[in-house]
Amino acid sequence: MISNTFTLAAAALLGLTHAVPVDLPASQSTQQDIINLQQTITNLANDIVQTNVDGAKSDYASADSQFKTIGGIVTSSACPPITAQGRVTNGTVAIEFLRTAQSDLSQLSLDLQNTASSASNITGDYCNAYDNLLLIDYYVTDVLGQPENGASNYAVAQELNSQGYDPNKLGQTYQANLVAAEALISALNNIPSGQPATQDAKDAYISLKNAISTFGKAANPGIGSCPLDTLAGATDPKSAINYVYGIEKAVQKAYADTTAASGTAHGDFCVIQADLRAVESYVKA
Ligand SMILES: *[C@@H]1O[C@H](CO)[C@@H](O)[C@H](O)[C@H]1NC(C)=O
Ligand SMILES: *[C@@H]1O[C@H](CO)[C@@H](O)[C@H](O)[C@H]1NC(C)=O
Repeated sequence: MISNTFTLAAAALLGLTHAVPVDLPASQSTQQDIINLQQTITNLANDIVQTNVDGAKSDYASADSQFKTIGGIVTSSACPPITAQGRVTNGTVAIEFLRTAQSDLSQLSLDLQNTASSASNITGDYCNAYDNLLLIDYYVTDVLGQPENGASNYAVAQELNSQGYDPNKLGQTYQANLVAAEALISALNNIPSGQPATQDAKDAYISLKNAISTFGKAANPGIGSCPLDTLAGATDPKSAINYVYGIEKAVQKAYADTTAASGTAHGDFCVIQADLRAVESYVKA
């Protein structure tokens, strides 16, 4: 993946050891800041999918300022300069960067819960995540919505190919599902066991459901009945997270089956819908 080339450069420079500036485990309010940032990143991915230029600029600016706030709490030195060359000029790749930012933030959240984490680990997680946002600045400011962005500016399902799917938006909507799923996992991870779902988890669930519906428009798997849903509903954050992992897997299969035009994507969407219902049993959004 392209993003690895970019982020490794930043991580490699973090040989410095300095004291962890936060007491570990980090406070609930810092974890909350990370969840809020992950929701902003989900919104930004959706703005890119919808070619919502004003929304993308505004969510990019919010994400940037949320990153700075979190950096002020969890790191004691500035991130090393980004050494990556080149610019992101492709919507699918831009959303892939956001997906990497989400997983780096999830790692940051876990490392902040672990009293054995080192300052360099925490700074590394943080800088990797932030770099992935900074690297799409050019795409958001200068490419999205401009003529050079070509058919990537079209509405979802505006143009279907001979295999019946939207080649301009399939990759973007697919990546956006993974961005949203990661945010939901984080929100669920932040709920103490035995507690009902938080408003954050409900919001993240709705965002994922909407992202999946947009992916379905781009994939256009056709109409048909689904097998009887026999899944036991999730009853706690842990079982809900397992169903979100199931959604991620089925989404990846749906993407592969759609591009292979194997005619089996419809069944993948049945699995996704059943897993969503199982998450909903606990989240009750
Ligand atoms: C954007 O990148 C994706 C995935 O790397 C590729 O399939 C697609 O053709 C690219 N789109 C454009 C317009 O270059
Ligand atoms: C530090 O980071 C490495 C690499 O990401 C990871 O394998 C390790 O578990 C982390 N250590 C702690 C204490 O979090």
